[in-house]
Amino acid sequence: MYSNDDTRIKNEERLKETEKVFGYVFDKFTLLNIYRLFSGKYIERFEFPISSGKESIVFAASDSRKFYAVKVYKTVATTFKNIERYAGDRWGIENSRNKKKFISQWAYREYRNLGLAHRAGAGAPRPIKVIGNVLLMTYIGTRSKPAPTMKDYGVDEDIVNASLAGIRKLYTIGEIVHGDLSEYNYLIFRKKPYMIDIAQAVDIKDSAAIVLLKRDVGNMVKFFNKFGFAIAEQKALKYAVGESDDYR
Ligand SMILES: Nc1ncnc2c1ncn2[C@@H]1O[C@H](COP(=O)(O)OP(=O)(O)OP(=O)(O)O)[C@@H](O)[C@H]1O
Ligand SMILES: [Mg+2]
Repeated sequence: MYSNDDTRIKNEERLKETEKVFGYVFDKFTLLNIYRLFSGKYIERFEFPISSGKESIVFAASDSRKFYAVKVYKTVATTFKNIERYAGDRWGIENSRNKKKFISQWAYREYRNLGLAHRAGAGAPRPIKVIGNVLLMTYIGTRSKPAPTMKDYGVDEDIVNASLAGIRKLYTIGEIVHGDLSEYNYLIFRKKPYMIDIAQAVDIKDSAAIVLLKRDVGNMVKFFNKFGFAIAEQKALKYAVGESDDYR
């Protein structure tokens, strides 16, 4: 048995270790949130980096049983294109405490929307935990390689069917619209599509919902048709909102 003191010392050592590995990349706020994934026993180690974008860094992590994906929203990043679009005027405050709060809200939106998508059966990673700007979700891929995006994998009829059925479920059951769908924001794993990157999704009652859905469906149909499908955007749209039972 550890005494409280032993546990505290052990925790402090782990926090220092987290700082050693990520100290050059992340600020204290982020380090602490990552560290909490360890101390809360959500993960036991980092496996490899998956992606480093403008707004986030994604890692594969694991415990003794399985792999996870950790998406870390940058708090000191260069641009916040998507977040700014969402934040509008409220963004103006160049105060770092506000920024952290905002980015944490953004991470929470992704957590919430992933949950809606996952529970609707739309095909999405399952969100597990969000701590500030750090989001833990199920990992899509194998132990050696994360799943490729649809852009790199391409599509076949089953993937096309599943993607459109997923967009429909997101709309009719999850009652949200992704808002940034393209072949880049789908991962293909075991021949099934998983939508990712969903923080900006809007409620179907939002005034922008139909315009965004049109764009999402339009992007996907355009990509699918490059592979020889001849899907009409209007039909796909009717199918997506549940007005017809077939997109062909
Ligand atoms: N759950 C996951 N399992 C495996 N890989 C993932 C997962 N989530 C994200 N990734 C990988 O991380 C990349 C970036 O994720 P995401 O699109 O959510 O972040 P982003 O900040 O929008 O990055 P980008 O600007 O590159 O689109 C994805 O393209 C994918 O390769
Ligand atoms: Mg993305």
